[in-house]
Amino acid sequence: MTPNRLKTRLIFGTVCLLIYPFWRCISTPAERFKFSQQKPQIRTKIIFQPGLKCQQNKAAANTSNFSDFPQHIQNFLYYRHCRHFPMLLDVPDKCGGAGKSADVFLLLVVKSSPLNYDRREVLRKTWAMERQHNGLWIRRIFISGTTGEGHEKSRMNKLLELEQREYSDILQWDFTDSFYNLTLKQILFLEWMERSCPDVRFLLNGDDDVFAHTDNMVEYLQNLKGNDGSKHLFAGYLIQGHGPVRWKPSKYYIPVEIYKEDSYFPYCGGGGFLLSSYTASVIYNMSRSITFHPIDDAYIGMCLTKAGLSPISHIGFRTLGLKIPSDKVNTYDPCYYKDLLVVHRFLPAEMYFMWNKISDPTLKCGSHRSLYAEYTEEI
Ligand SMILES: *[C@@H]1O[C@H](CO)[C@@H](O)[C@H](O)[C@H]1NC(C)=O
Ligand SMILES: *[C@@H]1O[C@H](CO)[C@@H](O)[C@H](O)[C@H]1NC(C)=O
Ligand SMILES: *[C@@H]1O[C@H](CO)[C@@H](O)[C@H](O)[C@H]1NC(C)=O
Ligand SMILES: *[C@@H]1O[C@H](CO)[C@@H](O)[C@H](O)[C@H]1NC(C)=O
Repeated sequence: MTPNRLKTRLIFGTVCLLIYPFWRCISTPAERFKFSQQKPQIRTKIIFQPGLKCQQNKAAANTSNFSDFPQHIQNFLYYRHCRHFPMLLDVPDKCGGAGKSADVFLLLVVKSSPLNYDRREVLRKTWAMERQHNGLWIRRIFISGTTGEGHEKSRMNKLLELEQREYSDILQWDFTDSFYNLTLKQILFLEWMERSCPDVRFLLNGDDDVFAHTDNMVEYLQNLKGNDGSKHLFAGYLIQGHGPVRWKPSKYYIPVEIYKEDSYFPYCGGGGFLLSSYTASVIYNMSRSITFHPIDDAYIGMCLTKAGLSPISHIGFRTLGLKIPSDKVNTYDPCYYKDLLVVHRFLPAEMYFMWNKISDPTLKCGSHRSLYAEYTEEI
């Protein structure tokens, strides 16, 4: 180290020593408390209850045509009755404890497979960042099962555990995280919510590959007249008059042995929908007496119908993607996104780019608004 650099460091050190007590003096205890609260200290519980494993229902194999079903449908039928799985990771204090959960305005509940580390990372620093908007708290939770077997499974579990240590934002249960187990994941979450976060105002329930404009969401929810979360709300991309896919090679294939009706009750696309805690509680209550159906969003539609509630369509939800009119315009022009609520599907780099663009207070959009209005009815 040259004498000059040493001198600089000494001066710097002295200045810091002088400033520290000054900072402590001028900042009130409340301010300092606020400062230290920027990263909330949340107790993370790692639980393992091996006794709780649900047994396969062997009689499912007696279902007619069982041996013709794809493996994942057979698995679904074998474990369809299972509604309780041991929790591997929990954050019981995510909402400040059940009693304080009314202080959380919007809870972001993101379905994420253990494999999607990169998506979780980018969400944490973009739209799912825990923060206040207009003075209202936004909190985040990822919900996950397990993937793989043996070493792979323990490696992925270890990864989630590391993430949990750093961020305290994962709920994980010991079931196979697969497409046909998404309903199970959804209901396990609602059960957790009833216990640990019952009075949260609103929830965004969605996938980890959507772009969600959470600031807009808070503003939309804040402007709802007479609903502070204690009344019905279920809004998203409305799907009506659709039925189960009967084409065997499809990822969404549903044999008549699982669901015999030709149509589903109205529901909102599972990529992202908004609901009040009241409606979440109703869905959970209804689910207790409705047999699981593998398509999670359609299943929620069944629960709503049973309760006599309807989902509503909100134009800001584009879970089928956004159709931008001409090749001449830039598909990633942030002005197309700044008024939306949820758009499917974004890669992590696109997410990072877009969030930074739309959060930029100097963004100027002018005529784009009318373009947006013109194409809202496209899909
Ligand atoms: C399923 O079939 C087997 C014989 O194939 C029979 O022993 C068993 O009782 C059946 N189970 C149910 C629940 O029908
Ligand atoms: C078994 O599948 C065939 C078509 O693959 C269908 O025609 C038949 O009705 C099914 N059997 C039952 C009992 O559902
Ligand atoms: C759902 O999870 C259970 C428990 O891990 C598993 O046995 C079952 O095969 C899974 N179902 C599907 C359809 O993946
Ligand atoms: C759901 O059921 C529980 C227990 O039965 C009840 O306390 C609660 O009020 C119900 N929630 C709603 C919104 O109906």
